[in-house]
Amino acid sequence: MKWICSVSLAVSLAMQPAFAVQSLPAPHAMTEQARDAFVSQLLKKMTLDEKIGQLRLISVGPDTPKEAIRDMIQKGQVGAIFNTVTRPDIRAMQDQVMQLSRLKIPLFFAYDVVHGQRTIFPIPLGLAASWDRDAVSEVGRISAYEAADDGLNMTWAPMVDVSREPRWGRVSEGFGEDTYLTSVMGSTMVKAMQGKSPADRYSVMTSVKHFALYGAVEGGREYNSVDMSPQRMFQDYLPPYKASLDAGSGGVMVALNSINGVPASADSWLLKDLLRKQWGFKGITISDHGAIKELIDHGVASDPQDAVRIALKSGMDMSMSDEYYSKYLPGLVKSGAVTMQELDDATRHVLNVKYDMGLFNDPYSHLGPKEIDPQDTNAESRLHREQARDVARKSMVLLKNRLETLPLKNSGTIALIGPLADSKRDIMGSWSAAGVTEQSVTLLQGMQAATAGKATLLYAKGANITDNSKVQDFLNLYEKGVTVDSRTPQQMLDEAVEKARQADVIVAAVGEAQGMAHEASSRTNIDIPPSQQKLLAALKATGKPLVIVLMNGRPLTLVKEDQMADAMLETWFSGTEGGNAIADVLFGAYNPSGKLPMTFPRSVGQIPLYYNHLSTGRPYDFTNPQKYKSRYFDINNSPLYPFGYGLSYTTFTVSPVTLSAPAMAHNGTINASVTVTNSGKRDGATVVQLYLNDPVASISRPVKELHGFQRIMLKAGESQTVSFKIDADMLKFWNQQLQHVAEPGKFNVMIGLDSARIQSASFDYR
Ligand code: BGC
Repeated sequence: MKWICSVSLAVSLAMQPAFAVQSLPAPHAMTEQARDAFVSQLLKKMTLDEKIGQLRLISVGPDTPKEAIRDMIQKGQVGAIFNTVTRPDIRAMQDQVMQLSRLKIPLFFAYDVVHGQRTIFPIPLGLAASWDRDAVSEVGRISAYEAADDGLNMTWAPMVDVSREPRWGRVSEGFGEDTYLTSVMGSTMVKAMQGKSPADRYSVMTSVKHFALYGAVEGGREYNSVDMSPQRMFQDYLPPYKASLDAGSGGVMVALNSINGVPASADSWLLKDLLRKQWGFKGITISDHGAIKELIDHGVASDPQDAVRIALKSGMDMSMSDEYYSKYLPGLVKSGAVTMQELDDATRHVLNVKYDMGLFNDPYSHLGPKEIDPQDTNAESRLHREQARDVARKSMVLLKNRLETLPLKNSGTIALIGPLADSKRDIMGSWSAAGVTEQSVTLLQGMQAATAGKATLLYAKGANITDNSKVQDFLNLYEKGVTVDSRTPQQMLDEAVEKARQADVIVAAVGEAQGMAHEASSRTNIDIPPSQQKLLAALKATGKPLVIVLMNGRPLTLVKEDQMADAMLETWFSGTEGGNAIADVLFGAYNPSGKLPMTFPRSVGQIPLYYNHLSTGRPYDFTNPQKYKSRYFDINNSPLYPFGYGLSYTTFTVSPVTLSAPAMAHNGTINASVTVTNSGKRDGATVVQLYLNDPVASISRPVKELHGFQRIMLKAGESQTVSFKIDADMLKFWNQQLQHVAEPGKFNVMIGLDSARIQSASFDYR
């Protein structure tokens, strides 16, 4: 309902006359041809300094406060601004350009709108766990709506870095380990955020990141280097960027890492040959924060001037948050080390996206007249709570449910214990944009609302998120990341145990602080911190049924927790409405249907552990363990929870696979179907997953690869036939000569409700 109101608001705002409209030229047609002609004319009028100015992207913050950049803006020395998020601030800057600069080239305004702007949705890893295209689309639309309503034109999102590295803190910002799922989620987000056109009043342009392969940093250590075969790159890591660009993303943010020795920011093969020539990208490339300076530390540039020369010549259009382009490009162009053509190309790309954002038609298009600015930027009425709650419920994954511990009975006494049970900041997750912490609903609040007048709810914090003072200092470095209780750990534990003893069931909210799953937050150990493990052990010792509610931004190692828990629910960092959404799931108002977008290992030593691995020459067979096989001898080699896994309060069965034919003709298609039955007593949704395998090919191929999924809703007892159309494109892979080919022969089709338990059939491709 709220969304409908928002849409009609959008329509009425779109009809408002644009501010300062009298000073604008006649509207320019939104076609590529008109744009190219316009930009060519404009380029001819620009001085060297004005061109270089367009390449500068300034982050407003303590080092560059808005007062300090006023003069530069007026002189046309700035192309875009980020980290400014209110209409009055943005309008003031645009006024400086439009009223005082020579050519009046509008600024564009950007921000990290990663999982919401004012309403915060689950972190992207949680969004991926919904396996729900419609839900992700809704998140994209609402995020764009709220961002555009704040005056923004661009977002640094989506992040589509495939990652098999749970040690890497930024897996929280991506869509997990799988190429196909990440491609679907990334392209859906792009389409939703850009809408029909990024120029529309309530759309923003996306900037897909981080190009490329950032998710494959060695050892999961932040900013580390990447070394990868071309086959793996093309097969597994590049497709999500390509899919997001095919969906129309106007921007690309370039990664900080090097690839096979060459920093992405200095890689003309990546930024020119692949991105522009092969993929036909016409938008803008933007450096990540300070990346041009970092070329010196990478050891590929001798000094700042050298770094600027290399970056610009490699195809880096816009420089984020450093002054290097402004300082050194004038000299480099004058000396001929950078050609005017190279500078023009970069400037053209910036002007192109400004044109595509509609800024040359109306520099105030996302601002409107100041008379209609929101009175209170943080007003409740600007939030989309209902949608946030709905999407958050869909993102949750039920990992364990012994003897139907869940859903909880809403009667008797429930003890809610844990350092994450009442944390308003953590539930929002990292990169929570302009979301206001005080507006989030904690699990305690959600459960209080759900139990009011029904059950008795007891609460105790029980432990600090961590008692490790070094980790506390790290988390508190730039913001108040964790609060340390004034009581001793033992006092907190005693209080928790005493409350637990009074209860019929314990709900323990444990996991990570949001700052542990963030940029620059790599971990060597992905356990729940010891303070919370101790708490869980003490709660378990009470003998009461134990429900573990996890809040975290990466796969964790949960062997002990899995043994202790009667039920376990993965809730990620679930956003503004997280507490209500978790309560909905715990009490059964919503039947969980999420599925893991990343494998959960048993031990950090197993990493990388991912479902679509190669067979090896000595594959390990769990049912017939032998010594000289590819395995670790000191651990159960399977994941704790496989990719695609997630339970429900009901049960489902999947029939054997039926194929429409025994063989697929060259470039033909074939249908694979199963019948899924809800064999339990409750209505519920699940995700039917299609995997393919090429058992004999010219290079070794993964044991299975996801190629399709469908989310279905079934009433108790109901059955549905689910069909997937398989075409020759889905059989293709990058061979040793880097040709994308489908080789004739046998193919295995696997369909199931996770990547481990599947039904299979096979066909011949001729
Ligand atoms: C991150 C980017 C982000 C940028 C701007 C960088 O540190 O790597 O993902 O978009 O900052 O906030």
